[in-house]
Formats: sequence, C-alpha cells, structure tokens
Amino acid sequence: MRAVICKEFGSFESLAVEHFDLPPPQSGQARIRVEAAGVNFPDTLMVQGKYQVRPDRPFVPGAELAGVVEVVGEGAGDFRPGMKVIGMVGLGAFAEAANVRTSRLLRRPEGMDAVTAAGFSMTYGTSMHALKQRARLKSGETLLVLGASGGVGLAAVEIGKAMGATVIAAASSQEKLKVAADAGADHLIDYQSESVKDRVKEITGGKGADVAYDPVGGDFLEEAVRASAWEGRVLVVGFASGTIPRVPANLLLLKGCALVGVFFGTFRDKDPEANRQNFEELFEWFEQGKLKPLVSRTMDISEVVSAFEVLVSRQAIGKIVLTT
Ligand SMILES: NC(=O)c1ccc[n+]([C@@H]2O[C@H](COP(=O)([O-])OP(=O)(O)OC[C@H]3O[C@@H](n4cnc5c(N)ncnc54)[C@H](OP(=O)(O)O)[C@@H]3O)[C@@H](O)[C@H]2O)c1
Repeated sequence: MRAVICKEFGSFESLAVEHFDLPPPQSGQARIRVEAAGVNFPDTLMVQGKYQVRPDRPFVPGAELAGVVEVVGEGAGDFRPGMKVIGMVGLGAFAEAANVRTSRLLRRPEGMDAVTAAGFSMTYGTSMHALKQRARLKSGETLLVLGASGGVGLAAVEIGKAMGATVIAAASSQEKLKVAADAGADHLIDYQSESVKDRVKEITGGKGADVAYDPVGGDFLEEAVRASAWEGRVLVVGFASGTIPRVPANLLLLKGCALVGVFFGTFRDKDPEANRQNFEELFEWFEQGKLKPLVSRTMDISEVVSAFEVLVSRQAIGKIVLTT
C-alpha cells in the first residue's frame, strides 16, 4: 500500500510517498481501508518535530481518517468487516490502509460521505470538548471565535450556534468572514483592520464575550482576555500564529475570568465515554443539518506537501482532505 512516510523531523519536502507493508491487525485493532484523511495544523507541527508529541521515526503522519473495516483482530468488539468508520488515530492516517485500535473508531453516520467524515473528528471533537466540557457554554451567552474560518474555528462557530450562543466570528479577511457568516456567525470582526476588544465591546453593549475561543495565539490571546466579560472563559486551543503568548495575570483578576486549556487528544483518551457522548450529539446535529462541514480542497495523498503549505501559509478555508 502507499503511505506518506516521515523519516526524520524537518521540512515538508522530506516527506516521501512509498510502498509500505502493513502487518495484520493486533488484538483490539481493526485494519481500515482508508478512503480519505483530514489534514490538521498539528500534522504540520508533528513532521517538523514541533508538536507536543514527538513520535519515533519513521512514522506515517495523519491524525484522522474515514474508511471501511477490512479485517478485525481479536477483541475488536462490535466492529465487523464492511463497516464504515471514522478513525481518530493520532498518527497513520495518510496511507491506503491503517491498523487502528477499535477504541479510536466511531461508526460513521449513514448520510456522511467519506470526504466529509475524514475531516470531521478532529475539528468538531476539539471544538465540542472546548465549548461543552471546558467553557460550559450556555444558551444565550456570547461566544467570540478567533481564526473563525479555519478548521477548528469554523467548527466552533457552528457548534456555538447549535448550543444557542450568539457568535462573533473574527478572521483576517472579508473572504474568510463570509465563510464564517455562511456557517451562522451573527457578528463579524476583521482583525487585520479592527480591534477585537473594541468591536466586541461595541457588539455586546460594553459587556464583553462570555466565552472566547482562541486557536491562533500570539497577540490575540491577550486581545481575547481584554474582550472578556466578567466571569468569562477564554479557551487556549492553539497557536497557529506560531507564537505561544503570555498574558498579564492582572487582567484575569480584574475580569474575574478564567484562562482555560483545551487538549482534545488527552480528553479523548482519559474520558472516552464523555467523548462518545459528544460525538453522538455532533452526529445528531449533523443529521439535523445544524452542522455543515466545509471541505474546501480535496487532494491525493501524494500532494501532502502542497496541502501542508496551503495550511501554514494561512490560505486554507475549512478543511483540506487527502484521498487515497
Ligand atoms: N487543543 C487541541 O486539542 C487542538 C486540536 C486541534 C487543533 N489545535 C490547534 O488549533 C490551531 C488551528 O488548527 P486548525 O487545524 O484549525 O488550523 P487552520 O485550519 O490552519 O486554522 C488556523 C487559523 O489560524 C489563523 N492564523 C493566524 N496566523 C496564522 C499563521 N501564521 N498560519 C496559519 N494560520 C494562521 C488563520 O485564520 P486567519 O487568517 O483568519 O487569522 C487560520 O484560519 C493549531 O494551532 C492547532 O495545533 C488544537
């Protein structure tokens, strides 16, 4: 089978697409024929050796996939050959086949095609965990989403609306803001030309945002704290800008607000039951048409380097998905 191989941490160009022999699935695993795999910002960090997790080399990158169960090992539970699944694999998705622990598999909703399914679990899983377990977002509250047209950001806009919040989307261009508006955002901020804090205060009549979702980092995290309401919750989701920020602690004191970390991968492994319930709810919203995942580009796995370049050059909208 073909797979993208990372032999050493470094530039994207050193990734190779090679033939690879997959061993039979072990106990508790299923072999999945991969139809499509979602591309996420953490994949780009992982192959450069800049991510929290530094896998042994060589490895096959790719954190999420959609495919069909081909073979099951012993103790594979309810999974059977022919079942259509989503795999939250962490590694190994950019390949024609992967052995996946069945605890990392979800049955895919009937109406969800492989390309949509491939890009669903990481972004919606992260944003659901962030807004439900970490921020405890309530209906009627105001949610500010930064990087609102990107993978996790756009999912946060849709989930925020599904949870009954008023959503303020912030992004770097009018084109990106239109995507957030189409996903249901109530108010828009172009943070290349407008102050996030001033616009949020204007939109909320001086109160500020109850919850802020920040996958961008850099100077924006402090902006998000400054835009927070009294007893607000500011979610630290990622650092797509490349800079891990520091925030003056006096701002947290003055606003009685909380800076809250979000790490989907660890949540998924430490609390699989809560994660399963999150996906039940997400799939229900998908089937009701409340979530409309946007895949803006589909490319072959051999084009992985171009896909990564689109993502890190800030050109991506919604999701990029690789097909096999
Ligand atoms: N905590 C978790 O569990 C978790 C899970 C998944 C992802 N993440 C993190 O969340 C962040 C976003 O991931 P994603 O997959 O949604 O990425 P993405 O689709 O590329 O979205 C990132 C957004 O960040 C903004 N951005 C600002 N400066 C950027 C830069 N220099 N390069 C690229 N984007 C920049 C862009 O929006 P504008 O142009 O509008 O600013 C872009 O839409 C990453 O840091 C990722 O590691 C965290």
